[in-house]
Amino acid sequence: MKVINTIKEMQKLSDTLKAQGKKIACVPTMGYLHQGHLSLITRAKDFAEVVVTTLFVNPTQFGPNEDFERYPRNFERDCQMAESAGCDYLFAPDILEMYPIGFSCNVIIRNVTDKFEGERRPGHFDGVALIVAKLFNAVRPHASIFGQKDFQQTLVIKQMAKDLNFGIDIIIAPTMREPDGLAMSSRNTYLSKQEREDAIILFKALEEAKMAIDGGCRERKVINAIMHKTLRSVPQIKIDYASSALADNLDEPDTFLAGDRIVLLIAAYMGKTRLIDNSLVTIPKGK
Ligand code: PAF
Repeated sequence: MKVINTIKEMQKLSDTLKAQGKKIACVPTMGYLHQGHLSLITRAKDFAEVVVTTLFVNPTQFGPNEDFERYPRNFERDCQMAESAGCDYLFAPDILEMYPIGFSCNVIIRNVTDKFEGERRPGHFDGVALIVAKLFNAVRPHASIFGQKDFQQTLVIKQMAKDLNFGIDIIIAPTMREPDGLAMSSRNTYLSKQEREDAIILFKALEEAKMAIDGGCRERKVINAIMHKTLRSVPQIKIDYASSALADNLDEPDTFLAGDRIVLLIAAYMGKTRLIDNSLVTIPKGK
């Protein structure tokens, strides 16, 4: 695996690979890789001969009181893990390469960013859309793979890629989970032993809601209340939101209909650590 640090070199490589008739898939990450990221790299191999993983902890997507400074970083470990998963190139620019002095652009995606993460983390999705647009312009891939774990982010990126005519296939890969159900995340390293044990309540709340839907529940508020009740069984948890919505546009009808594809979304604090998780469900017909 070769490490590339500049946009110019990345673009040149991309042009050369394309001239050789090779397909390129890109896996954007902020590093501190785990099995979830590795599954995205493996998945990328299904779409292209060449996989480029990007590693950049993007300051513009962190709020002023968020964890940019303490976000876990380990370049050597990331290189080894990416290579072991079959990554061909690691694009790892520094901050000035991505945001040189005088940088003044922004990318704002409306509507799909109005609620949930967009509401709780003002500016977060501007930063995500901006950096992903820049990474796309550096790597110029045919396809790019993102994890379902950041569900609203996947909607934002699909919208951005469509609106700005990137012509890149956006592929969403399922969330990888620990054996007890906790969604894999670089931020799980912040959890104390007790918080780590308690954190599986997010997965349990999603499962409870899914069971209720399987049992015939269609009322959005009732589904949300089931998630809240399960989450509150861990008194230390601070719920940010636990909501259900239509998966395509995050609309929130009072009642879901048979055949609707919905997403159950949770964000909650375990101590100082903010965790998110989600689950996709299709409302069954005939109940
Ligand atoms: O999901 C992430 O790790 C980040 O938001 C991304 C897409 C790499 C942009 O910085």
